[in-house]
Amino acid sequence: MKIGQEWYRREEVASRYDKRFTHGGKVLNREEIEKLLELVGPDDKEILDIATGTGRFAEAMEEAGGDVVGLDASSEMLRPGRAEYIVGDAFRLPFEDKSFDVSTSMRFLHLLRPRQVPEFLKEVERVTRDKFVFESFNPMSLRALYQWSLPQRSYLFRTPHLKELLRDLEFVEDFRIDPHFIVPYGAYQMMPRGLAKHVNSIDREIIDVVPSFASTVYWTVHF
Ligand SMILES: C[S@@+](CC[C@H](N)C(=O)[O-])C[C@H]1O[C@@H](n2cnc3c(N)ncnc32)[C@H](O)[C@@H]1O
Repeated sequence: MKIGQEWYRREEVASRYDKRFTHGGKVLNREEIEKLLELVGPDDKEILDIATGTGRFAEAMEEAGGDVVGLDASSEMLRPGRAEYIVGDAFRLPFEDKSFDVSTSMRFLHLLRPRQVPEFLKEVERVTRDKFVFESFNPMSLRALYQWSLPQRSYLFRTPHLKELLRDLEFVEDFRIDPHFIVPYGAYQMMPRGLAKHVNSIDREIIDVVPSFASTVYWTVHF
């Protein structure tokens, strides 16, 4: 079993997961959901959310009019909701070829190692008609200050490295990136909500000036 799978199957980890979206984390959660809805778009109807966790993105996409399936390796993480949820492995998706308009996967890539990325993307491409939206964490950012302390062992992909990996895949037609969040997730989670709102509005202004220092990079990959 892979590292990320083991960690999120622990009852104490799964039951506490959503606590990070209280206080300042609420602001962060709203911002992440808005960003994903912007990238997925209203015309994307059949959606697969890979490593859906407690389903916060799957639920938001379902509410926005999508027909969403959320898949996760951990039954402990899954919660009942409006979307359909199933237990499964991101590397062996239990769907026929080209079943979905778009696939998404948030806060998952950091659980993979570079050698696993081509295999994962190939499997995503198999079940996806149009595009894949996911995110990576940038080592050239403030996130590097605390990522070493995370027990689930995050891997931070440098943007040029990930671009190179994508360019090497013949089934990738093109891709674009949207850098976001100068202040990393961990800091938002520790702030009171009022402060997080202020920080977030400043964050939104400075990201355009120093995009290469963004802690989070959103990727939209077309197949
Ligand atoms: C950090 S959580 C992210 C959950 C959700 N996407 C979010 O942003 O709140 C990572 C999730 O990846 C899931 N996961 C880890 N390895 C997986 C695999 N091989 N296949 C499917 N899900 C996996 C874990 O169970 C966990 O729910």
